[in-house]
Amino acid sequence: MNSKLKHKIFYKISEVASQMQMETYVIGGFVRDLYLNRPSKDIDIVTVGSGIEFAKNVAKSLKPQPKVTVFKNFGTAMFRYKDMEIEFVGARKESYQRNSRKPIIENGTLEDDQNRRDFTINAMAFGLNKSNFGELVDPFNGMGDLEDLIIRTPLDPDITFSDDPLRIMRAIRFSTQLGFDIEAETYDSIIKNRERIKIISEERIIEELNKIMMSPKPSIGFKLLEETGLLKIIFPELQNLKGVDKVNGIGHKDNFYHTLEVLDRIVPNTDNLWLRWSALLHDIAKPTTKKFIDGQGWTFYAHNFIGVKMIPGIFRRMKLPLNEKMKYVQKMVLLHMRPIVLSEDEITDSAIRRLLFEASDDIDDLMTLCEADITSKNVDKVKRYMKNFKLVRQKLKDIEEKDVIRNFQPPVDGELIMKTFKLQPCREVGIIKDAIKDAILDGEIHNNYDEAFAFMEKKASELGIKKPN
Ligand code: CTP
Repeated sequence: MNSKLKHKIFYKISEVASQMQMETYVIGGFVRDLYLNRPSKDIDIVTVGSGIEFAKNVAKSLKPQPKVTVFKNFGTAMFRYKDMEIEFVGARKESYQRNSRKPIIENGTLEDDQNRRDFTINAMAFGLNKSNFGELVDPFNGMGDLEDLIIRTPLDPDITFSDDPLRIMRAIRFSTQLGFDIEAETYDSIIKNRERIKIISEERIIEELNKIMMSPKPSIGFKLLEETGLLKIIFPELQNLKGVDKVNGIGHKDNFYHTLEVLDRIVPNTDNLWLRWSALLHDIAKPTTKKFIDGQGWTFYAHNFIGVKMIPGIFRRMKLPLNEKMKYVQKMVLLHMRPIVLSEDEITDSAIRRLLFEASDDIDDLMTLCEADITSKNVDKVKRYMKNFKLVRQKLKDIEEKDVIRNFQPPVDGELIMKTFKLQPCREVGIIKDAIKDAILDGEIHNNYDEAFAFMEKKASELGIKKPN
């Protein structure tokens, strides 16, 4: 008996397998993750015979009885039970045609089913019948690969990848998530078959890319994507960051590796996928803005602004959300140099107020990004930056407590300006409104109604606007 299959559900499944006299296994990711001690809530059950009928009978044997969802076209059925998602499928044999991910499916044996799977570590199964309950069925020595930390296809990799090119991305994703190496033949086949990735939808590619982003060390995945030639196909803007130009013997840093370092550095400090995307994209416009200026060296003038402009195109193509998540990434990219510039100068209250006003609730995330962005090899320089950032963070806190700038709305708004001076909406109203905002941010007046009102009167009189009697 396998002590790893402790959960009651496996005994229930085993009973139904006996009643129906069906060969039954738990297979794939669940088995892999059991050995890796990664908690998994997704259970895949394979039966030799109809998975749908089997699922219905298992559901009937449970209390409360779960509702079975049947995917007739795929020959699968699933239900949720407690916090688990259990999927049932009949063992199958698959054959593929060149231009499609859609296989021709026939009923098959467990062996056929294991043959069609992506990696040896994902092709292991435990028997669930009385005679073999908990026995590992591992025809490709997935266990050996688990121990040696290796990603390898069960069959000739050219067949496995050509059958379903999404597996190219999956190989790199698993390698990144688990810290496994890709076996040499499998790796070579990724290079050979990389163009096939073009038949995979952006939605599926981005799903894998986001899993790479959420891994403990995403740079592993992006380096693999680059080395195998996939990056230039799926993410040319990122590929363009790679390389160093030299003029008069002066080079700049390689922005691809710098970006990956920033991404790895931000990982321990945030689980927010979009902050991680901000790290990945913060310098995305450096190649387009790069210019060597005599006396100044390499410049990347306005790369933050151009970066902001590039983001919608990238998000649209990659099927990333075009909503407030994208706006957040744009904001981070726009502001990513501000705290650095600020910490290099004398840190004035008014500069802090302006930063708070623009970043508002995302100020902490922005500071996290900035801190990750300090990747210099010069230890003294890094120390100096970190010390200055600490100072910036403290000042941010002080000013926030004193002036409440975050999400601030000036205490005198356009409505009040129009009412006071009996004005219709016009340019002057905007000028007065901006002047009040600037006066508060510059510390000329305090952030309260009386001072703002008095300032409004002064500004209006400067513009020749008189108060009606
Ligand atoms: N599988 C496959 N080829 C694919 C996708 C999946 O062979 N393109 C097989 C693998 O055996 C895999 C199983 O189907 O283990 C379940 O797939 P899925 O749930 O997508 O992945 P997991 O391996 O469970 O891993 P994760 O949940 O991390 O995606």
